[in-house]
Amino acid sequence: MSKKIQIFDTTLRDGEQVPGCQLKTEEKVIIARELEQLGVDVIEAGFPISSPGDFLSVVEISKAVSEPIVCGLTRSKKEDIDVAAEALHHAKRGRIHTGIGSSDVHIKHKFRSTREQILEQGVWATKYAKAKGYEVEFYAEDAGRADLVFLAQLVEAVIGAGADVVNIPDTTGYCLPHLYGKRIQYLVENVKNIHRAVISVHCHNDLGLATANTIAGLINGAGQAEVTINGIGERAGNTSLEEVAMILQTHKDLDLYTNIKSQKIYALSQLVSSMMRMPVQANKAVVGKNAFAHSSGIHQDGFLKHAENYEIMNPADVGVPSSSIVLTARSGRAALKHRLELLGYHVAGEDLNTVYESFLVVADEKKEVNDGDLIMIVSSMPVLAKLP
Ligand code: KIV
Ligand code: ZN
Repeated sequence: MSKKIQIFDTTLRDGEQVPGCQLKTEEKVIIARELEQLGVDVIEAGFPISSPGDFLSVVEISKAVSEPIVCGLTRSKKEDIDVAAEALHHAKRGRIHTGIGSSDVHIKHKFRSTREQILEQGVWATKYAKAKGYEVEFYAEDAGRADLVFLAQLVEAVIGAGADVVNIPDTTGYCLPHLYGKRIQYLVENVKNIHRAVISVHCHNDLGLATANTIAGLINGAGQAEVTINGIGERAGNTSLEEVAMILQTHKDLDLYTNIKSQKIYALSQLVSSMMRMPVQANKAVVGKNAFAHSSGIHQDGFLKHAENYEIMNPADVGVPSSSIVLTARSGRAALKHRLELLGYHVAGEDLNTVYESFLVVADEKKEVNDGDLIMIVSSMPVLAKLP
């Protein structure tokens, strides 16, 4: 039976931590409403104690959305949890996301503590947050590098203390997919009370493996994926929402699904990019400018014969208006003929060869040949110019 994967969007918290990407509360509310329309299950709206602006954003987002759970981040500290609880007051369904470092490097060099004290503080924070009346998600920061036996002890203890969700972040983007997957499998098999909580995966992209690690975690039993639009986030970013949603939609064999309305992905990607002043790289999977653009002659010819020759997703499924054929010096006659036909010029045989020669001259000069260039080429050929 197919399993529903919860989508936890942290564009407005982990994503917004990127220098230069800070948003005003009104802008965050606009994005939160769009995330609700997109179908995410949880919106991490901010880190309420970090600034009055973040506090206000969590308050306003809690008022603005009704379907998704609204979540506020805290450290395992009383004052953080108190402030988050207050900020979430208006949420229909609120969640406190509390936690602490779990790897020895964090325990020793960040907290200057011991495994025993960390476990005690994590349990205390979970109970304290739970007593506020909200759902509690516990993050074991840097779980990707933590000692696995200790991680399992910590997870079991916080579930015992009331955690509804246990987040196993690969905070530094260190893990390899098969090993991250094995970590999740180990927790599933060795934490006695694991059935009482949902396992969440939260991966960073330092080695370009965030999405692969997330999928490995889901395949091995995690029930929630933490993601951002366009994969924005600390350093090299977080797992991107659009990649996870489209992987699960494309690979039905995994038997995992989300509630994401994929046709809304592209518009939200564009909105986040312009509001955060963070351009989407052209070759970004799913939402980049070139994700559905075909430019080499062999690919264009194959695509024009049958789109599935070179496309595994239909652009309309992610809200991209259409695939595009980019005319460059690498394009062939089939693509040129196709574009000329769209412009109303039916050119074949020797005439096509003649136009193609002129096209290559222009294409060598310019990187991309546009419709205006083509019309100029055709109208400079007296016989062809009469055709349209
Ligand atoms: O990457 C991380 O570990 C985090 C936690 C605060 C959840 O963002
Ligand atoms: Zn993170």
